[in-house]
Amino acid sequence: HRRSVMHGGKGPREAVLVGFMGAGKSSVGRMLADRIGAEFIDVDEMIGRNAGRSIREIFASLGEGVFRDMEKAAIRDAVSVSGRVVAAGGGAFLDEGNRMALSAYGPVFFLDASCEAIVARLSGDRSRPLLPGEGNELHGLMEKRRPAYLMADFTVPTDGRTVLQVAGVILRLLARHRSPKRNGVDE
Ligand code: S3P
Repeated sequence: HRRSVMHGGKGPREAVLVGFMGAGKSSVGRMLADRIGAEFIDVDEMIGRNAGRSIREIFASLGEGVFRDMEKAAIRDAVSVSGRVVAAGGGAFLDEGNRMALSAYGPVFFLDASCEAIVARLSGDRSRPLLPGEGNELHGLMEKRRPAYLMADFTVPTDGRTVLQVAGVILRLLARHRSPKRNGVDE
């Protein structure tokens, strides 16, 4: 049921990246799209552009509910065109409708980063309204979301890997994903 566009015989160009804030979805997605000659779509960027304001401003003035509605609409738009690498925001995959839309679009990769890595990457970040302070609260939110992220087709551990290396892992999985029967092997 997947609409996979073959590119240069190298496999499908669609790919979806999910995972916690700061896991590297945008940087890895951009790199991956560049490698396979696909268009890169950052759903958060799309939402900001559509709303004419930053994610932070949307949360502050309209609230999370409105943001989630905008996110749903942006995801619908993002998957309406084939051949894209789509990076979804950290909360997007928690919603069943979004999950179905993204999973139907292409193989979904969960970028799995540790709490420590997230803290190292995002300390001082002011653009993410839902980012808890370091420590228990952050750990708790990550654990709470993990079961949803694990519904991705592949889990890709990112700790100790560069953006280029993570993109490379995904490239190899994508190439293998061409065969209709998934082997389910993650790297
Ligand atoms: C969110 C993650 C953010 C953004 C919004 C909410 C979340 O995206 O969509 O701030 O609920 O985890 P990133 O994962 O790109 O930071």
